[in-house]
Amino acid sequence: MTLLASFPPEINVAVIGASGGIGQAVVQLLSENFSSAGSRISVVHAFSRSSCHTELQNVTYGHIDLEDEASVAAAAELATKDRPLDLVFVASGILWQGEELRPEKAMREIDINGLMRLFAINAAGPTLVAKHFLPKLRKDAKTLFAALSARVGSLGDNRLGGWYSYRASKAALNMLLRTLAIEHARQWPQSIVAGLHPGTVDTELSRPFTARTPEHKLFSAEISACHLLGVMNRLGPEDTGQTFAWDGSRIVF
Ligand SMILES: NC(=O)c1ccc[n+]([C@@H]2O[C@H](COP(=O)([O-])OP(=O)(O)OC[C@H]3O[C@@H](n4cnc5c(N)ncnc54)[C@H](OP(=O)(O)O)[C@@H]3O)[C@@H](O)[C@H]2O)c1
Repeated sequence: MTLLASFPPEINVAVIGASGGIGQAVVQLLSENFSSAGSRISVVHAFSRSSCHTELQNVTYGHIDLEDEASVAAAAELATKDRPLDLVFVASGILWQGEELRPEKAMREIDINGLMRLFAINAAGPTLVAKHFLPKLRKDAKTLFAALSARVGSLGDNRLGGWYSYRASKAALNMLLRTLAIEHARQWPQSIVAGLHPGTVDTELSRPFTARTPEHKLFSAEISACHLLGVMNRLGPEDTGQTFAWDGSRIVF
């Protein structure tokens, strides 16, 4: 199977959050596809905060911390020192951290520091990546800047309540991506800026909360990566500014 067949040959890819469950699986799949006939992938720049170096064909590793703008700027320079980028995939994000930061079940659990932390990583982080990476996309072919959002960030789809900080940080991310898409399209008419929902995926981030998820609705990171790359392949410039689920369906804001 040729991954990303709608892109030109020999694409230059950056994955941010490459140490995470989904980020790692996407890097792995892209690397495995490198030597297959008709492969579109030339090089994958895998950036992460914690080290995740493994020997993978045509993958280079670098450091990025979304709370350190200089590291984001340096990563963008490194990924484009030979040629512009075709695809940027932001796979970073947090839902909980230790005992002190957990998704809220009720409003009495809201902690402003926790809420600000989720906004910093989930909304501001990918926006900072966009600020430094969008100007480094090529202009003469399809390009994509995709960031992992979440279905629970949909206002229209919120019937259960709870998870205040996470929901709000992803809703903010969707708005930031939409606004970036509008500005970016003025000079990059073939480009797409989109949010992606990976499904419920068995990773560090979700594991404490999936006990009651039916088995058929819980994806492995590998399956989710496969779905996400399929969606990335199918998106076109007319889709810019929207958020899509793993099956390609559009998520209402
Ligand atoms: N898993 C799901 O069911 C699910 C569902 C919907 C949406 N999502 C979204 O998908 C994305 C990836 O989730 P995942 O399940 O793969 O989670 P994960 O395994 O916990 O990975 C999260 C990644 O984010 C990185 N990160 C966190 N803070 C960072 C920072 N300050 N700078 C740089 N990187 C940072 C982590 O890096 P370190 O290794 O350095 O901590 C890690 O690589 C998240 O945005 C999440 O909200 C996941």
